[in-house]
Amino acid sequence: MLDIVVLISGSGSNLKSLLEQAAAGAPFRVVAVGADCDAPGLAYAEAHSVPNFIVKPSDYTDRAAWGAEFAEKIKEFGVDAAKGLVVSAGLMRILPPNFIAEFSPRLINTHPALLPLFPGAHAVRDALAAGATETGVTVHHIDEGVDTGPVIAQTAVPVLDGDDEATLHERIKVAERQLLGRVISQFARGERNF
Ligand code: GRF
Repeated sequence: MLDIVVLISGSGSNLKSLLEQAAAGAPFRVVAVGADCDAPGLAYAEAHSVPNFIVKPSDYTDRAAWGAEFAEKIKEFGVDAAKGLVVSAGLMRILPPNFIAEFSPRLINTHPALLPLFPGAHAVRDALAAGATETGVTVHHIDEGVDTGPVIAQTAVPVLDGDDEATLHERIKVAERQLLGRVISQFARGERNF
C-alpha cells in the first residue's frame, strides 16, 4: 500500500477520482491533501475524512519559507524522499527548490498536454490556439523547471471540431484521471521504479 499526499489549488476532480479509486481497492491510500489556497476541492478530502491543510504563500516572506512549511506539513503524514508519494494534481504553483529536494524523486505532477508541448498554466488554451489536432495528458516527475521534469507516462486525446477550452479540458480530464491512477498504482505495486 502506497501512502500518497495530494496537492491541489482548484476544483479537485483528480483528487476526487483518486479518493474513489483508493476506496474501490487501488493499492494506494490518500493520507492527506494539501492546498496553497482555499481550494474548493478540499471538500472531497473532508467528505472522505482525509486530513487536509492549507499553506498560503502570502503568509510567508518568500517562496523558500512557504516551501519549507508546506514540506513540513506533508512529512507529518510519513511521506518523504524515501517513502510514499507526493502527487501534484492541479496545484497551480511552481514548487521551490527546497521543497523539491525534500521529496524528489517521489514527487509527480499531472499536466493537461503532451509535454514537452504546451507547458505552463494555459496548456489547453495554448493547444487550441496552436491548431493542434491532438493533445493529451502527461504524468511526470517534478524538477525545478515549469513542466520540464522527466515524463513518466502520457495519453493522447483528440481535439474535436467545435471544441472550446472547457470541452477539450473535460475530455482530457477523463483520460487524466485514468492515467494518474494507473501510474500511482504501478509505483505502488513496484511495477515502476522511482
Ligand atoms: C488538471 O487538468 C491538471 O492537470 C491541471 O489543472 C487541472 C486541475 O483539475 N493542472 P482538478 O482541480 O483536478 O479538477
